[in-house]
Order: sequence, then structure tokens, then C-alpha cells
Amino acid sequence: MTSAKDIRPRTDDLAAQAQYLSTSPSASFHSPSSHGSALTRTIPVANAKHLKPFATQDIKVLLLENVNQTGREILQQQGYQVEFLKSSLPEDELIEKIRDVHVIGIRSKTKLTARILKEAKNLIVIGCFCIGTNQVDLQYAADQGIAVFNSPFSNSRSVAELVIGEIIVLARQLGDRSNEMHNGTWNKVSNKCWEIRGKTLGIIGYGHIGAQLSVLAEAMGLSVIFYDVINLMALGTARQVDTLEALLAEADFVTCHVPELAETKGMIGPKQFEQMKNGSYLINASRGTVVDIPALIHAMRSGKVAGAALDVYPNEPAGNGDYFNNELNEWGTDLRSLKNLILTPHIGGSTEEAQRAIGVEVAQALTRYVNEGSTLGAVNLPEVALRSLTMDEPNHARVIYIHKNIPGVLRKVNEIIGDHNVDKQMTDSRGDVAYLMADISNVNAAVIKDLYERLESLNSRIMTRILY
Ligand SMILES: NC(=O)c1ccc[n+]([C@@H]2O[C@H](COP(=O)([O-])OP(=O)(O)OC[C@H]3O[C@@H](n4cnc5c(N)ncnc54)[C@H](O)[C@@H]3O)[C@@H](O)[C@H]2O)c1
Repeated sequence: MTSAKDIRPRTDDLAAQAQYLSTSPSASFHSPSSHGSALTRTIPVANAKHLKPFATQDIKVLLLENVNQTGREILQQQGYQVEFLKSSLPEDELIEKIRDVHVIGIRSKTKLTARILKEAKNLIVIGCFCIGTNQVDLQYAADQGIAVFNSPFSNSRSVAELVIGEIIVLARQLGDRSNEMHNGTWNKVSNKCWEIRGKTLGIIGYGHIGAQLSVLAEAMGLSVIFYDVINLMALGTARQVDTLEALLAEADFVTCHVPELAETKGMIGPKQFEQMKNGSYLINASRGTVVDIPALIHAMRSGKVAGAALDVYPNEPAGNGDYFNNELNEWGTDLRSLKNLILTPHIGGSTEEAQRAIGVEVAQALTRYVNEGSTLGAVNLPEVALRSLTMDEPNHARVIYIHKNIPGVLRKVNEIIGDHNVDKQMTDSRGDVAYLMADISNVNAAVIKDLYERLESLNSRIMTRILY
């Protein structure tokens, strides 16, 4: 069994590896050339060269927390050794296991603290098969040259569809009618129940979710207006308005799709509720801090707001159970007592499709990082990629040098690689860490060994990898 140093090659093994490993990979090789969705990033390059300085079966991957099968399969198809566990692990067991692996895949329950990552001597990359990355000490990982990837946009469609459903449910008071029937009450009413056709939907934040929603809403006969801090191309016949106030004054349904930022905290508060149309509706499936909930309670009690749907809350429990009470949020009981209010437990993005899409996107990002060194989509390292090498470039090597962002490094690196024909080179920094990629032609195993040793001896070094 080859050790983890196959990824950061052991100098005495290099000559032997170069001969053996050039034939080893059996997986497909994807272009890192575009930055976008999983699909746009994975168009195979014709005649692309497999770039791996190791036998793929030596790459050890630990997948925790029942990561979606699609992701598992992509990593297994690469030939990696994949260990799959359904749950997270207690800290001591995690430390035991993480010592050995090059790649770890987690979801939100596994905390990868500095204490744990310190033990992860072979780890080069972490895949968060979820949206958030708060569970990982991103700075510590970056300081060790460990890349972290996630999947921030795989569930946009799921959220947009939920909002469409909620618009109709609110307009027809379906939640209340259903609750009444569950309690044995037949209450056939049409007063203040509406069709959504011809009404105006106001979208705050026209990003991945807002834009999807815009298209779906128009198909349902809604007129769409939106407000965003940047000027954006409106889809269909949607129209951007200049101010939040203008949106609130015109929309029958207001829906929030902004990120959690200082500027978006309490963005919909007492003043904004006043600016909304009488009998309008509010939906928040973005972040819990965006809407001032006591102000919403007041606006609903006064009849200003005819209905609302909340999927997110300032404080959310870590697990499932009877936690949605006043201990969690002091206004819990007041909120629960309101009519025509849909309360859901942060399920906007929780669909089978979104889980599958997350599995594909993160597993492909991990594969590209391991096989090609591309950091496109990384959340803690600068985003750097070079175009794929092809089979017409047989004696090329790709140097990846992750280093401290201090003066003079490039001069020293270029002294080392400058004697060779550097076809392409790209470097970028993010905070204290910089990432350099260079493709060098006409190299043999002895040259690779020399380059590796000299780069490893630099004071600025965090991690050196050479792919060929
Ligand atoms: N409920 C769920 O399960 C769920 C799932 C996925 C995402 N989300 C949340 O939904 C929100 C939107 O996600 P997204 O993927 O569409 O994000 P995005 O980054 O693609 O879009 C956000 C948009 O908001 C705009 N924006 C930022 N600040 C603004 C401001 N002050 N006023 C107006 N517009 C502003 C940005 O310019 C951008 O166009 C995020 O808060 C995200 O965390 C929730």
C-alpha cells in the first residue's frame, strides 16, 4: 500500500512512480475551464490527459453522515478507497480515522475543529456535502493547505418551488382550512381567498433562488417585480425596481431571498410592514435574521399582513424534536397562535433532488481538486485553475505550491521552476495563503524530484503537490 505521500510525492519514490503511475488512472478527466454549476464545470475535454501522480486506489476517502449515493459513486468510480459511514463519529474516533485519509466528506453534524484537523496529517481536501461550512475551521484548514468545498446553490430550485406552493397556500388559507378539518371542523369560505393570477410578486434578492422563482411565478400568471442591490438582467417580463420601498408599495406577495449580512438584518421591520399594501403576504425562506418577527406578529394581528410563511428563524435547534418554543425564541407562542401563518422547519432546500445535486457537485469538486489541483469553488483558498493538459503534452507536469502570502515567494519559486519551460502559470492569494499552479513541459522523473525537493525546502511552503 502506498502511503499518503503519493499525493505530496515522496522524493525517493518519484522515479518509480512516474513509470508505473502514468498508466494507472481509469477515470474521466474534466475541464476546469468554466466557473458555474456542476454541469457547466464538467464538460470532458477531448484528448484530455489523466493527471495523477498516484495510483487512484491509494487515495483514501472517508464519507460520514450518510452522504448521498451519487457523490459516493463518483468517488468510487475514480478508483479511490471509499469508506462510508451513515452517522457522524465521536471526536476520538474521528481523530483516529482522519489521520489516515486524504479526503473527508461530511455534512453539518461533523465538526472539523483545529484540534481534529491537526491530527489529519494526510488530508488535502474536505467536502461539505451541504450548504454551510460553519462546522469547519476554515482558516486553520487554509493555513494547512487543506481546501474546503461545499455546494451553495444545488437546492435553489427546491426553495423556489416551495415558495410557489406557499403563495397559493396563503392566498387560499389552505393551512387554516386543513387544520380545521383535522380538528373536525367544516368551514367552507371564500371571503379573502384569492387566485394568484394577475397579482404582483415582489422578490427581494434576485440571485439563484430569486431568479428561479421569477420564472416559475410568471408561468403561474403573477407579475414579477424585484429589488436587488445590484442591477440585474430581468428574466421574462419581470421588472427591477429601484428601492425596497417601491417594491413593498406595489407587491401583493413579498418574498425575501437575500443572504445573511449586517445590511439584511431586520431588513423587514416595523417601517417596512407599514410600507406594505394592506392585506399583503410575506414569505421568508432566506435567513431568520432578515425579518423582525415581533414586527411581523404585530403586522399580522393588525390585519396589515394577511398571511405569512416562515421557513427560517433567528434561532434554530440543532436536531429534530419539540424545540420550537419560547426557550428557543421568546416570541414562539405568539407566533404559533397566528392564523394563516405557515411555519416550516428550514426545509426550503430539503428534497431528494437537492441532496443528489449536492452529492454530484461536491464529489466532482473533490475529484477535480485531487486529480487536477483546481480550486474553483473552494471556500477557503483562492480560486485557481489551469486548462487541462492533453495527451499531446506527454512530458508535462503540473506544480501546485500552496504557500504563505509573504513578500519574495514568487521570485524564489520562479528561480526553481524558471530553468524549465513554464507553459502556463497562475497564482492568487486569499488572506495569508496563496495558491500557485504552473504547467511545465519537457520534464522527466529526475526533474520532478528536484523541483519537489527544492519547493519543499522553501520557508514559505505550506504544501507542494506535483501532478504528471
Ligand atoms: N430555506 C432554505 O432551506 C434555504 C436554502 C438555500 C438558500 N437559502 C437562503 O436563501 C438566500 C438566497 O440564496 P441564493 O442562493 O439565492 O443567494 P444568491 O447569493 O444567489 O442571491 C442573493 C441575492 O441577494 C442580493 N442582495 C444582497 N444583499 C442585498 C440587499 N441588502 N438588498 C437586496 N438584495 C440584496 C444579491 O445581490 C443577490 O443577487 C440566502 O440567505 C440563503 O442562505 C435558504
